[in-house]
Amino acid sequence: MLIAYASKTGNVARFVAKLGYPTLRIESGRERITHPCVLVTYTTGFGQVPPEVRAFAQAHRRFIRGVAASGNRSWGPNFARAADTLSELLGVPVLLKFELSGWPEDTERFRQILSTLEEK
Ligand SMILES: Cc1cc2nc3c(=O)[nH]c(=O)nc-3n(C[C@H](O)[C@H](O)[C@H](O)COP(=O)(O)O)c2cc1C
Repeated sequence: MLIAYASKTGNVARFVAKLGYPTLRIESGRERITHPCVLVTYTTGFGQVPPEVRAFAQAHRRFIRGVAASGNRSWGPNFARAADTLSELLGVPVLLKFELSGWPEDTERFRQILSTLEEK
């Protein structure tokens, strides 16, 4: 499974690098894919989806099987809320919310989720 991801300050990039799956970094939002993927993003000001991620998601909704988001718990109810917004927009599940570049448990859990998705 391809992991399409966006990372502004490096946390999401570090998280996905630990997983051992092929990745595509979203920078402009105009990147193109032709295969199923999961989408992993950071959360920006007050629980928002980064604009480049929204553009990518809207252009590729048929390929996106699930979403995950990084955030910081200090944002309270807006913690990793980009995942909820994308989930609603695309009609796909929130696979994971994780802090910064993720704890080892997050890496393990996400690997398991990815392997389950690949069986489908
Ligand atoms: C301007 C700004 C706004 C942020 N807003 C949120 C937020 O609303 N909710 C949240 O959970 N994290 C928020 N964060 C934290 C980032 O989502 C978090 O640090 C994430 O790991 C960044 O990923 P990256 O290093 O891959 O860019 C914000 C960070 C910045 C700099």
